[in-house]
Parts: sequence; structure tokens; C-alpha cells
Amino acid sequence: MSSLFSPLSLRSLTVPNRVWMAAMCQYSAAPDGDAAGVPTDWHFAHLAARATGGTGLIITEATAVVPEGRISPYDLGIWNDAQVTAFRRVTDFLKSQGSVPGVQLAHAGRKASTERTWVDRGRPIAPDEPHGWTPVGPSAVPFSAASTTPEELTGEGIAAIVRAFADGARRALAAGFEVVEIHGAHGYLIHEFLSPYSNHRTDGYGGSFEGRTRFPLEVVDAVRAVWPDELPLFFRVSATDWLTENPEDDREGWTLDDTVRFAKELQARGVDLLDVSTGGNVPDARIDVHPGYQVPFAERVRRETGMPVAAVGLITEPEQAEHVLASGRADAVLLGRELLRDPFWARHAAVALGDEVPSPVQYHRA
Ligand SMILES: Cc1cc2nc3c(=O)[nH]c(=O)nc-3n(C[C@H](O)[C@H](O)[C@H](O)COP(=O)(O)O)c2cc1C
Repeated sequence: MSSLFSPLSLRSLTVPNRVWMAAMCQYSAAPDGDAAGVPTDWHFAHLAARATGGTGLIITEATAVVPEGRISPYDLGIWNDAQVTAFRRVTDFLKSQGSVPGVQLAHAGRKASTERTWVDRGRPIAPDEPHGWTPVGPSAVPFSAASTTPEELTGEGIAAIVRAFADGARRALAAGFEVVEIHGAHGYLIHEFLSPYSNHRTDGYGGSFEGRTRFPLEVVDAVRAVWPDELPLFFRVSATDWLTENPEDDREGWTLDDTVRFAKELQARGVDLLDVSTGGNVPDARIDVHPGYQVPFAERVRRETGMPVAAVGLITEPEQAEHVLASGRADAVLLGRELLRDPFWARHAAVALGDEVPSPVQYHRA
């Protein structure tokens, strides 16, 4: 059997294979009213298609723990019971197909309140425009010149968001999810706290590595406290801000060394797998993008911490994915855009590697 199609057990959960779908925003929920943040037919069809396609684990798009944590007003949310009920339908179906449903719990921080990507290229929505609001962040520094300046979070504001993540995890369990992934990457709120590029605080939540990691670790502790011991907790990190990798860029940011050190803290607190992405916090950082470009970051975390990791980023070919796993560089691969192009990627990969993924009974011939 290939590595790609061998099961992976984390705590009491066994994921049937290692072809996983990465979180991908769909910008398809209602922007306001009772249906705000509630999964729609689009989300059901989109996620269900990857389950019938044989994907082992399917992670929902960034799902906001509070309304102000949505990157766009059209994001999914998990701050009320209507959202839980609608997610139930999705998770029940994913499980009926043998896929594991995971949810990415998120707060977009200073990146919040923007348009859908296909409307004016995701421009910021000003607080006084319809569906707009003032975002929050570790410091009153905007993401880019075009972005709204966020409000600097107070100690009470930070505590409320920590509680919201825990409430989100409780609701995720009620909604039938079996994996929670905390979104600590891509310049979202947790990443903004981690990086000295975006965190300019002078209180106990900024400054040193300990200060900058305090809020992210409080979120982890709060989520782990309510998420069952039998179920795994993932953390998505941006392994680097892509500043240290560029010798011409002397700005200070979050680095791979920081990630390795942070991963050890996460492991000690009961995080079961690190999902290793990069970037998103510095709009003009130079990123070296090529097939599998983030795999070396995942590999180093795995090698130096022993922590299970998932690799992501331009993994598109079955042999490429198999090689990443068989060479011990990661424990699973997360696919984004390739799974959008081909919901049946896992089935096609199984054929290519001489393996089998059970197909829906409806597709069997007598
Ligand atoms: C349409 C789209 C939406 C995305 N939304 C999210 C998201 O909600 N959360 C997240 O962590 N990453 C998000 N990403 C990044 C993907 O999870 C993934 O890391 C990235 O696309 C690289 O993988 P790929 O080369 O296989 O697409 C998104 C990517 C795409 C293409």
C-alpha cells in the first residue's frame, strides 16, 4: 500500500488516507441577518463532492468564532446554534462517505472586513460602508496602505476572543466535527500576535517571544480544555513571514526558527498536528513559489520536534504527494486548488499509485 493511502491515527481518530483538503474560503454565506455565517447549499455541495471523491479529511473554510472575525461578510461562522444545525447536515454526509470532517476556527484580525476575492479583488470594506466594520488587531497598524486601521485589542478584548475560540470548539463538537484546526497563519489575528512585524504591543502580549506567543497559546489552552481528549487538535501556522529568507529584506518578522520553537510549545499543550503553511502577514514580502515550496518548512518542524505535520502548497501530482510522505517529510498532504479542479483527485491518485479508495455504493454496477 502507498503511504498516501495508508490510514493515519491521531488520538482515537483514524483518518482513512492522507489526501486532505485544505481550508478554502467560499465567500458564499449570507452577509447579515439570521443566516449570516450559516452554511448554504453551496457549502454542502462543495464539501460533499470532495467526500464522494474519497478525500480522507476535509477542513472547512476559515470559520469565524465571532462576526468581526470574518475576513469577508460572506464567511462561515460558528458563533450561534443555527450555524451548528446547518453544519450537522454537512458533517453527517461527510462521515457517511467515510471522510473525516474538520473545521478551521478563525479570526481574521486586522484583515477582516474585505470584499469577496472576485469583487474588486477583495478590497477592504470601510467601516461606514454596508456590511463593513472596524477590524481589531494586536496594534493599531493596518495590513496594507489600502486597509482600515484596526483597533488595538484591550486585555478584555483579548480574553473575549479566547473565550470565543473555546465556544467555537464546543459548537464544533455539537456540529459533528472530529478535527478542530486553529487558524494561526496567513496574517490572521493569531499570526498577527506571533509576528514582531505586526505586533508592536508593549504589554504582556507583545515584545518577547513569550509575550507574542501568549495570546495564541491562551487560545490553544482554551480550545484543548473543551475539545475531547479522544479527538485531535491541529494548528495552522505560517512557518515564515518570508523576510529572513530574502537577504535584501532586513525587516523583522516571524521566522522558521520561531516556528520550530513554537511547535514545541504547541506539542506540550496537546496540539496533535502542525499544518505548515507560510506568508500572508507582509503584503510585499518576496515569496519563492514553486511545486511543493512549503514542504521543507514542514520537514524541518517534523525532524526537530517529532510532531506530526501536514505539508501544503502546490502539491498536485500523486507521485509528488507520495514522495513527500514516503521520504518522511510530512505525515499528510493538504491540497487546495488541485482539489477545486478535481474533486475526485483522491480516486485518480489511488489508481495512479495502484491503490483503492472505496467508491460510493451508488456508483457500483450489479
Ligand atoms: C479559494 C481559496 C481560499 C482559501 N481560503 C483559505 C482559508 O479559508 N484558510 C486558510 O488557512 N487558507 C486558505 N487558502 C489557502 C489554502 O488552504 C492553501 O494553503 C493554498 O491554496 C496552497 O495550497 P494549493 O497550492 O494546494 O492550493 C485558500 C486558498 C484558496 C485557493
